[in-house]
Amino acid sequence: MIAIDFGTSNSTLGLASPQGSRLLPLEQDHLVIPSAIFFNLEEDCVQFGRAAITAYTRHYEGRLLRALKSVLGSSLVEEATQIGQEKIALREVIRKFIAHLKGIAERHAGRDIARVIFGRPVWFVDDDTTLDRLAQSQLESIAHSCGFTEVHFQYEPIAAALDYESGVAKEELALIADIGGGTSDFSIVRVSPKRHRLPDRRQDILANTGVHVGGTDFDKWLSLGQVMPHLGYKSHYRGKADRELPSSVFFDLATWHRIAFLNGRQTSSLLREMHQYAARPELVHRLMRVVREQTGHQLASDVERAKIDLSCGASTSVQLPYVDEGLVLAFNSPDFERSVAGLTDKIGQSIRECVRNSGVSADRVDTLFLTGGTSSLSFVRDACSRAVPQARVIEGDKFGSVGLGLTIQANVLMKATVA
Ligand SMILES: Nc1ncnc2c1ncn2[C@@H]1O[C@H](COP(=O)(O)OP(=O)(O)OP(=O)(O)O)[C@@H](O)[C@H]1O
Ligand SMILES: [Mg+2]
Repeated sequence: MIAIDFGTSNSTLGLASPQGSRLLPLEQDHLVIPSAIFFNLEEDCVQFGRAAITAYTRHYEGRLLRALKSVLGSSLVEEATQIGQEKIALREVIRKFIAHLKGIAERHAGRDIARVIFGRPVWFVDDDTTLDRLAQSQLESIAHSCGFTEVHFQYEPIAAALDYESGVAKEELALIADIGGGTSDFSIVRVSPKRHRLPDRRQDILANTGVHVGGTDFDKWLSLGQVMPHLGYKSHYRGKADRELPSSVFFDLATWHRIAFLNGRQTSSLLREMHQYAARPELVHRLMRVVREQTGHQLASDVERAKIDLSCGASTSVQLPYVDEGLVLAFNSPDFERSVAGLTDKIGQSIRECVRNSGVSADRVDTLFLTGGTSSLSFVRDACSRAVPQARVIEGDKFGSVGLGLTIQANVLMKATVA
């Protein structure tokens, strides 16, 4: 049985076996692969992970798609995107990615693998049980179309709890915070070395909450706040100070999973019209260049890089010559924190709700276990700590904890079936 942490930004793959649970290398020695796929039209092949991103940055003709987990639970899954002469539905793009992981596992194991456990956020779609169920069933049916016959799901923070639990020496109450690329998920769990391998842990799970806010949203709001205005966002039509240019193109360009939709003819005619009537056509000219030359993902990556720089420094800058010759934008932490304050608040609310729902008082939580790439941001960590100020903070494997925990669970499930 295998475990797949299909993440918005990164994915891992675990193989459960009687010898133990481990993550498998996915690209050379890397245990983590960016959830990216590139349809390389020049070489007529499909590439995954870092190879996909490299081919895109080397300007091979083709299409890059990222953050596709974000479309689960929406009709976008069935929407087709033009790739060369073909139109391919996003469901099929996700299928290719999952099938790629399955293939790696099968090559490792030397046999077919029909059983899988996937991680899932507490909410794929915030507070909407119907769409949430739809998202899971979409992923399940994609898994079936890859050839899996048995498909399980587990909440991502519970999986992270299982990983944390494998190293604890005594029973404790832990608040698990998994703050990733697409969602922030929280669980309060009684972790215990004695109960670690029991198949049914329901009584140890006191609460789960989650919110559809993650690192890709931080990128989006940093981009909209500090980059898109340099491409015309919030500027006006000529002679009409009360009429801003339409925002949809800027939103799409700032949203990882929507960038690929900007290539259509409709966008080109909208851009031409915006350029013709804009008060600042030179800014719209930059926007047109990015769309025409398909450097939207490069721009999103540069914004992400600025965000990551700000997680360990007060300021940074990025060079954007592919937007405009000599264009350099400076970023600083206070402006960044302001741009994303609404998102940080939502994360804080969700974690407080988790503590409330657990029925235990905040000071009884022993440990705050942090995982997920976005937990690298100090102000996000602070927002989590404030909910359980007495708890000691443990930083887990930011990109591997969920996958490792899922693999532990896969092992337990496997043993339960054998028994
Ligand atoms: N040092 C850092 N500072 C800030 N953000 C970071 C840092 N390193 C990674 N990130 C962000 O973490 C996010 C990816 O984290 P992770 O791999 O945990 O997400 P994921 O598992 O793919 O997403 P999800 O679980 O929400 O579907 C990205 O948005 C990335 O930009
Ligand atoms: Mg994750």
